[in-house]
Amino acid sequence: MKKSTLVSKMFDMKGRVAVITGAAGLLGPKHAESLAEFGANIVLLDRKPAVQKIAAAIARKYKVKAIGLKCDITQKSELEKTLKIILKKFGHIDVLVNNAANNPAVSAGGFSQNWSRLENFPLSAWEDDVAVGLTGAFLASQVFGSQMATQKKGVIVNIASDLGIIAPDQRIYRKEGLPPEQQPVKPVTYSVIKHGMLGLTKYLASYWAESGVRVNAISPGGVYTNQPRDFVKKLARHVPLHRMAHTDEYKAAIAFLSSDASEYMTGANLVVDGGRTIW
Ligand SMILES: NC(=O)c1ccc[n+]([C@@H]2O[C@H](COP(=O)([O-])OP(=O)(O)OC[C@H]3O[C@@H](n4cnc5c(N)ncnc54)[C@H](O)[C@@H]3O)[C@@H](O)[C@H]2O)c1
Repeated sequence: MKKSTLVSKMFDMKGRVAVITGAAGLLGPKHAESLAEFGANIVLLDRKPAVQKIAAAIARKYKVKAIGLKCDITQKSELEKTLKIILKKFGHIDVLVNNAANNPAVSAGGFSQNWSRLENFPLSAWEDDVAVGLTGAFLASQVFGSQMATQKKGVIVNIASDLGIIAPDQRIYRKEGLPPEQQPVKPVTYSVIKHGMLGLTKYLASYWAESGVRVNAISPGGVYTNQPRDFVKKLARHVPLHRMAHTDEYKAAIAFLSSDASEYMTGANLVVDGGRTIW
């Protein structure tokens, strides 16, 4: 029988190497901070070069090793190059957080017929969104997850969304004074990608269960970033806790799923949405 371990010890990530995609956006640096706080060395990937500065700040603040690498996750060759760099520097990979996605702000824009509506949604936008949000997560899992499987240990955390569980209520995005055919909507790709992330999570969890690689998802609710007051009010009405999330409110969930604290979990979806999906 396994001897009991202190819970605080189970969160310890000292010496582990965590790779985070889309790490130069709103939430990526928060995921990185959360794992660095528990001692993990961090590899931040993004197609924005800003990722290097973010890595330097994390290394200074948390006294861990942190590197920022420019990497387009839609390109398998770039991921393979990145894997080589990581293995040369650290020798192993312990955590992958599939966080990158296109998050187009829903607005009425200047179009006569709003581009976000299903009837007008450009094929190029569909392809680009899927390439980042779904194909990118698949490719990063294929490249980094396979490495973990050869190590016989690792964790993948896929960032889904409350909109991976429920359909968007398009009334939230409505703008007064616009005719129905010009009303902006949450794009179809968001739903498809986030539902797909949950499918990918279950598939990989069962596929790699015997190789020691656990795969779980987090479904966050909407984060407050100075959206118009009217939008926030409408969204809050859908949330039992009656507010949007703050950027720091997913850090504990990331630490839990990335560490041994969740060692008996795989294929699960940790919903952190203020209760939105229970209504
Ligand atoms: N912000 C929210 O309210 C919210 C709510 C639920 C779920 N989520 C999910 O959380 C995750 C992070 O959200 P966010 O708000 O930080 O998004 P964000 O748009 O601020 O950050 C996404 C990052 O991904 C990067 N990226 C895009 N394409 C890439 C590519 N091909 N290769 C590498 N990097 C690429 C972007 O440069 C950006 O830095 C996303 O998956 C998002 O769908 C966010």
